Amino acid sequence: MAAVEAPTQQQLSELKQKYTLAGQGQVFTFYDSLSAADKASLYQQLALFDPSYINTIAAKALAPAKAEDGAAAAQPSLEPLPDSARASIMDSKPDDIDRWYSEGLDLIAANKVGVVLMAGGQGTRLGSSAPKGCFDIGLPSHKSLFQIQAERIRKVEELAAKKAGTGRSVTVPWYVMTSGPTRGPTEQYFKEHNYFGLKPENVMIFEQGVLPCISNDGKILLESKSRVAVAPDGNGGLYNALVESKVLDDMKRRGIEHIHAYCVDNCLVKVADPVFIGFSASLNVDIATKVVRKRNATESVGLILCKNGRPDVVEYSEIDPAVAAEEDPKQPGVLKFRAANIVNHYYSFRFLSTIPQWAKTLPHHVARKKIPYADLETGETVKPAKPNGIKLEQFVFDVFPMLELNKFACMEVRREDEFSPLKNARGTGEDDPDTSKHDIMAQGKRWVQAAGATVVGEDPKAGVEVSPLVSYGGEGLEKFAGKTLTAPTALEAE
Ligand code: UTP
Repeated sequence: MAAVEAPTQQQLSELKQKYTLAGQGQVFTFYDSLSAADKASLYQQLALFDPSYINTIAAKALAPAKAEDGAAAAQPSLEPLPDSARASIMDSKPDDIDRWYSEGLDLIAANKVGVVLMAGGQGTRLGSSAPKGCFDIGLPSHKSLFQIQAERIRKVEELAAKKAGTGRSVTVPWYVMTSGPTRGPTEQYFKEHNYFGLKPENVMIFEQGVLPCISNDGKILLESKSRVAVAPDGNGGLYNALVESKVLDDMKRRGIEHIHAYCVDNCLVKVADPVFIGFSASLNVDIATKVVRKRNATESVGLILCKNGRPDVVEYSEIDPAVAAEEDPKQPGVLKFRAANIVNHYYSFRFLSTIPQWAKTLPHHVARKKIPYADLETGETVKPAKPNGIKLEQFVFDVFPMLELNKFACMEVRREDEFSPLKNARGTGEDDPDTSKHDIMAQGKRWVQAAGATVVGEDPKAGVEVSPLVSYGGEGLEKFAGKTLTAPTALEAE
């Protein structure tokens, strides 16, 4: 690694003054006792931040400003999104779904579609030291989440090329957002696995920003004598990172107009889903989002709805239980507010190109965490037993209220087909590696059965792993009609 350049006396005193004036001079407590190399690296780290901006966002996050209109803040008007802004895979006409699929594949074939993966989280609940995307959920093939997603991209490229006719070269570029902790291991993993058959020039691994961690009384924490404690700036850091890492420039150069963005932990994600792309593009919206149906009134999920006339996400805890339990007057027995947020989005490039105008205005949220910190008396790093400070995070969906309702749409999809997140360690029983594996294999079993195969086996719960290279969404399995498969089994491409 190249040596970090030492600051001049003047640069150092200017930076010290900036931090001292902002009431954050404690970050220099050990500076004079550090080696030259450590002095230089602490200086470089501190120079990345504007301490008064950190103070402002921390204060806002800790005491969210009252809305201008106090009454609206206290009693927001909540409504489901209007019918014009939503569709459901469950009750759309098959002709509409076919049309969206076909239009989406045409856009993919025209090389106008790109994919953004959010993989900068630290996956603390899962407890694996490697990035979540490298995780082996225990499929017969032992494919990792990254490999499954890469193969879906390859397959959708192939389907689009086939539809467009021979000789067409189709590329869906994959922009993989990592963070300080996940970038190195992610890059290495992709290299070691030969980018899972994708061309390296079409996989761009980039890094989101970090923010300093703050003590409960608003002070920037040192993690050691020579390093500030930092954490990734949340999945909403995506927007800044798309600009800073020149991803948008790359999209522009390639002529990308439609972007699918999703989270690494959803093993069922239909990467670059033609139906979703076609649906969103046909409505000419700037953002669309996939949702699944809330299981019941008390399921703790964020809801996508219309708040004070704008698209928004409202957390479970913010909704009155009686409102959460209301039924849809048009569909008795179905919840009125049922659109559960799964962080699976469509963006127009037109919208993403406006990021520089608003990225800094997205609010920050407070996550209270146990943050190892340097004791300012002794310089020793202490690992606290209780949360001792906060991490500041932006949420990717906080942009929704910036849009008019006619530029936003929502598509309800089947949970069992499209959403199974890996959040927790094995054995938890919920959103863990076993549920991920089960959901992929149960889906494969449904697909082959729908194609006319019979699945037998001792364990009725055992399923069929269908490689994404064999089928993207259940298509192309005709050759299994009339065959008997013994589960558990895996269908790989020949
Ligand atoms: P989660 O909020 O579930 O976080 O991220 P996580 O890191 O996966 O898990 P925990 O909370 O530490 O256990 C949802 C999605 O947002 C991404 C994650 O990688 C995941 O795809 N994310 C989260 C980022 O890309 N950057 C962040 O700073 C945070």
